[in-house]
Amino acid sequence: MGEYVVEMRHITKRFPGIVANDDVSVSIRRGEVYALLGENGAGKSTLMSMLFGMYEPDGGEILIDGQKVVFHSSTDAAARRIGMVHQHFKLVGNYTVAENIVLGIEPMKKKFGFLPWVDMQEANQKIRELSAKYGLEVNPTDRIEDLPVSVCQRVEILKMLYRQAEIMIFDEPTAVLTPQEIDFLLQIIDGLRKDGKTIILITHKMEEIKRIADRCAILRRGRLIDVRNVADTSVQEMADMMVGRPVNLSQEKPEARFGETVLTVSGLTVSDEHHFDVVRNVSFSIRSGEIFAIAGVAGNGQTEIADAIAGMVKIASGSVKLLNTDITAASVRERALAGISYIPEDRQGTGVILDFSLRDNLALREYFREPFSKNGILNDEKFNSYAEDLIARYDIRSGQGAATQVRSMSGGNQQKAIIGREVEEHSKLIIFVQPTRGLDIGAIENIRREILAERERGAAILLISLELEEIMALADTVGVIYRGELLKTAPCTELTSQDVGLYMMGVKQA
Ligand SMILES: Nc1ncnc2c1ncn2[C@@H]1O[C@H](COP(=O)(O)OP(=O)(O)O)[C@@H](O)[C@H]1O
Ligand SMILES: [Mg+2]
Repeated sequence: MGEYVVEMRHITKRFPGIVANDDVSVSIRRGEVYALLGENGAGKSTLMSMLFGMYEPDGGEILIDGQKVVFHSSTDAAARRIGMVHQHFKLVGNYTVAENIVLGIEPMKKKFGFLPWVDMQEANQKIRELSAKYGLEVNPTDRIEDLPVSVCQRVEILKMLYRQAEIMIFDEPTAVLTPQEIDFLLQIIDGLRKDGKTIILITHKMEEIKRIADRCAILRRGRLIDVRNVADTSVQEMADMMVGRPVNLSQEKPEARFGETVLTVSGLTVSDEHHFDVVRNVSFSIRSGEIFAIAGVAGNGQTEIADAIAGMVKIASGSVKLLNTDITAASVRERALAGISYIPEDRQGTGVILDFSLRDNLALREYFREPFSKNGILNDEKFNSYAEDLIARYDIRSGQGAATQVRSMSGGNQQKAIIGREVEEHSKLIIFVQPTRGLDIGAIENIRREILAERERGAAILLISLELEEIMALADTVGVIYRGELLKTAPCTELTSQDVGLYMMGVKQA
């Protein structure tokens, strides 16, 4: 067998209006961790989807073990021992873990000698063995819909192992994970490599590549820029190649100039559907020109605080004041008009309307009033010029410009559209929930600059982030949340990351 287990030669793939892969060639060695690094929309998923048989290339060829292959489906790719964990998992919610793993290749027995039936006992046994061997703890009889994402991801990995995949593609596996879960996943990947598997890791996080990958291919706007040995390449070099210009990895923050109090939250309590208090008696205020950040481990009530302020959830008790107006009972629309912009955590569910065009999504805050509409008649020209303007200024990339259906856009570009639309309102209060989650370094840099510019303009900003580094880089004031309570609120300059990390674990200090 030759040196390369996978060779993709001169691969080109076009979608309407865009060349997603432009003459890309990569060769992957058996047993290595090969990273694909690139900004959102660079063409990483497309390239790997062709290796996994989901699309056929418009040009170029694919070799597995030195042999030319043509895949018409992912079943063809699986037959060549290729597996893929997708960015959005492809599991069936109301099936069990075991059913999902065996789906499509159930071990069959002949009941009474002739009726085929699925031997789930055998399947369960095999799943237990694989779980134990690779440290992928799951309970085969749990239902997928009841499980957190990190466990669903384990199920996807087990599914590949069950199909005896030797070449494993992970498409941005860490984007949905907490820092602890990321550590765990990287250990799993390392274990798979030690066992001889070949791993292709799609990511835009240089730190992960540094920790785990042997080589790294950099894609930019569909083209292969370079392939580097990770050990010989710095994080800064990777970032610059990926973005195509020198990237500033740490942004300086101008001196704060606080003005009047814009938001006052008093004694806020929010209960979930089981009458459990997910936010408990939380009070804080944010001034004009101030970034107030809530730090905490996922699921400690921070998103509920944001939702309560924006009017998306009912509050059990407490009050919310915007400047001097009590908005505790106001509707979402009334709050928006009163001066609140909201960049939600759930981008696809709450942030955009996937089946609408980019143009219509960008106008969601404005369409009902002049100059966008007058006496119920929409002003097409205004919609178009507004969209063109935002697309240019916020660098929103898509196949067909303003007319693109938002569903077809990459997650990062959907997020840029939401941020553009919300920031453009010049609101008094802007709520950013995980604004940069899952985005690449170029987009992160732009969004952080945007947040700081709004601070300079005098907006009050509520920032909710799971990235401690982001909080320490941007916040003027930090509130640390633990089990629904603000354990500590202090100026950012009075806290170290270590302090905040301890409060996040519920460890109170004097
Ligand atoms: N099925 C599709 N139809 C139309 N355009 C697509 C489709 N899939 C991807 N694209 C476009 O191709 C480009 C590359 O996308 P993708 O491979 O998903 O990038 P990445 O994974 O690097 O973020 C993007 O501009 C994206 O909008
Ligand atoms: Mg992708």
